[in-house]
Amino acid sequence: MDFTIDRFSSEIETVLQALDYPATAPGLYEPVKYTLASGGKRLRPVLTIAACAALAHTDGTEAIHQALAVELFHNFTLLHDDVMDNADVRRGRPTVHHRWGVNAAILSGDAMVSMAIEQLATDAGAELADLLKCFNTTAMEVYQGQQLDMEFEERKYVSVDEYLHMIGLKTSVLLGCACRLGAIRAKADEHTAQAMYDYGFALGMAFQLRDDWLDTFGDPAVFGKEIGGDIVNGKKTWLLIKAREVDEMRIQALYADSCMPQELIEKVSEIYRRHGLDEGCRRLAEDYAARAKAIIATVDIDKRACDFFCSLADHACTRQH
Ligand code: IPE
Ligand code: IPE
Ligand code: MG
Ligand code: MG
Ligand code: MG
Repeated sequence: MDFTIDRFSSEIETVLQALDYPATAPGLYEPVKYTLASGGKRLRPVLTIAACAALAHTDGTEAIHQALAVELFHNFTLLHDDVMDNADVRRGRPTVHHRWGVNAAILSGDAMVSMAIEQLATDAGAELADLLKCFNTTAMEVYQGQQLDMEFEERKYVSVDEYLHMIGLKTSVLLGCACRLGAIRAKADEHTAQAMYDYGFALGMAFQLRDDWLDTFGDPAVFGKEIGGDIVNGKKTWLLIKAREVDEMRIQALYADSCMPQELIEKVSEIYRRHGLDEGCRRLAEDYAARAKAIIATVDIDKRACDFFCSLADHACTRQH
C-alpha cells in the first residue's frame, strides 16, 4: 500500500465528483460545485485517510466519508472567510461572493456544513458519537478563531501568544481533527488518537504561519490568492506584530496615512524585509514542523507512514501555494 499524496487525493477527487445534489434550487449548489471543482490541495482529507491507513494497516478508504466531511467543512469556511476578508480571488479564480454575491456565499456555505455532517455520519456505526464530538468541538473552535481574527483587526496591540492562540483555533484544530477522525475510524486507542491530533495541530501551526508568509511574500500566480490582503486588512500576523515591536513609529505612521493599498503593501513588506522578519516567520513555521515530526515519531506506525507524515510537515513550511 502506497503512502503518496497522489493516491490519497485521487480517492478524494473521485468521491467529491460523485457527490449527489438535490434537484431543488440548483442555484444553491452551483457555487458548491464550483468551489469543490477548483482544485484545493486536499490536505485535510489526505490527513484523515492517511491517519486511518497508518493505524489500521489498510488503504484508509474506510475513512473516506469522514475525509470528505472535513474537506466540505474546510470549503465552507473559505466561502465565509472570503466575505470576511474581502478577498476576490481564491485558487486562481473569482471567489464565490465576488462572482455570485455575499448571500450566495452565506447560503452555499451553510449547505456545505450540512453536507459535511451527512458525510461524517455515513457508515459511522458505533463511532458516530466520537466522530460527532470531535467534529463539532472543532467547528466551534474554528468559529472562535475566526471571531478573534476579526476582533484583532480592530486592535492595535495583539501579542504573539494571542496570535498563536488565534491561529491554533482558526486553522490548526481542523488539521488535528482531520487526523483524529482517521484515528477513530481505525479504532485507535485514545492515547494514539490524541498523538495524531497533536501532530495535525502542530502541522496546522506551521501551515498557517506559512500562509501568512505567502500572503506577503508569495507569487500570486502560484499562490492563487491576491498578495497583501493581510497587510491591507491590518491582520495581526506574526509579521505585523513583530514589525510593530521593532519599528512602532513607522508602522503607526503608515497605517495612519491614507495611502493607496499597493503603496501600503510595498512599504510594510519593506519593513518586514529590512528587519529579517520574513526569515523569522519562516523559522517559526519550521519549528512547528519539527514539533509535528517529533510527535509523529512517537506513534507506533510503519516507517513509510511516518516518512509520509514528516514530508507533509516539511511541505507545510516550504510550500509556495
Ligand atoms: C486555506 O487553506 C486556509 C488556511 C487555513 C490557510 P488551504 O491552503 O489548505 O486551501 P486549499 O483548500 O488548498 O485551497
Ligand atoms: C484561514 O485564514 C482560516 C480559515 C479559513 C478558517 P486566512 O484568512 O488566512 O485564509 P486564506 O488566506 O484566506 O486562505
Ligand atoms: Mg481569514
Ligand atoms: Mg482569508
Ligand atoms: Mg491567509
